[in-house]
Amino acid sequence: MKRELINECRLRFPAISRNEAFSRSAVAAFAVQQDPTVEEVAAIKTAVSEAVTNAIVHGYRDSEGDVDLFMKLFSDGTILIQVKDKGRGIPDIKAAMQPMFTTAPEDEERSGYGFTVMESFMDKVRVRSAVGRGTTVTLEKKLRGKASPKGT
Ligand SMILES: Nc1ncnc2c1ncn2[C@@H]1O[C@H](COP(=O)(O)OP(=O)(O)OP(=O)(O)O)[C@@H](O)[C@H]1O
Ligand SMILES: [Mg+2]
Repeated sequence: MKRELINECRLRFPAISRNEAFSRSAVAAFAVQQDPTVEEVAAIKTAVSEAVTNAIVHGYRDSEGDVDLFMKLFSDGTILIQVKDKGRGIPDIKAAMQPMFTTAPEDEERSGYGFTVMESFMDKVRVRSAVGRGTTVTLEKKLRGKASPKGT
């Protein structure tokens, strides 16, 4: 079955920490039209805030800029979310996605588990990045919703 786009939303906000909480609420508000379960909402909120936090604290570590949040809903129940920054970029994506890998200074107490968390809560996580140009994280999850009690 070909999946059709049924709704989409684009948001742009400055890379400041108060927008981590905002992005969590925004994605939950967008997803609610699909009648998701509490667990599904919690999963996408967590994954999105990890990606947005990364854009703010790593992407724009030495600069200011905007984060773009694109959300799309498809006819098969899939939600696709893109978090995009035009920050410093990731030199080695494979290494960055390993558990416990972090480039944050020690006093920031980052554990290096953001990508691992995204992967555990979402069906698909894709990362595109270019050094000096920015990073796009694409998150995808099929929302089965309350209508399907067995989660099938
Ligand atoms: N948007 C981004 N721009 C530049 N570098 C990034 C970006 N997102 C992730 N990275 C790099 O990938 C590393 C791993 O990210 P990850 O979210 O897994 O861990 P962390 O952010 O360091 O720690 P935690 O998420 O547990 O607080 C980061 O330390 C950083 O070097
Ligand atoms: Mg992180």
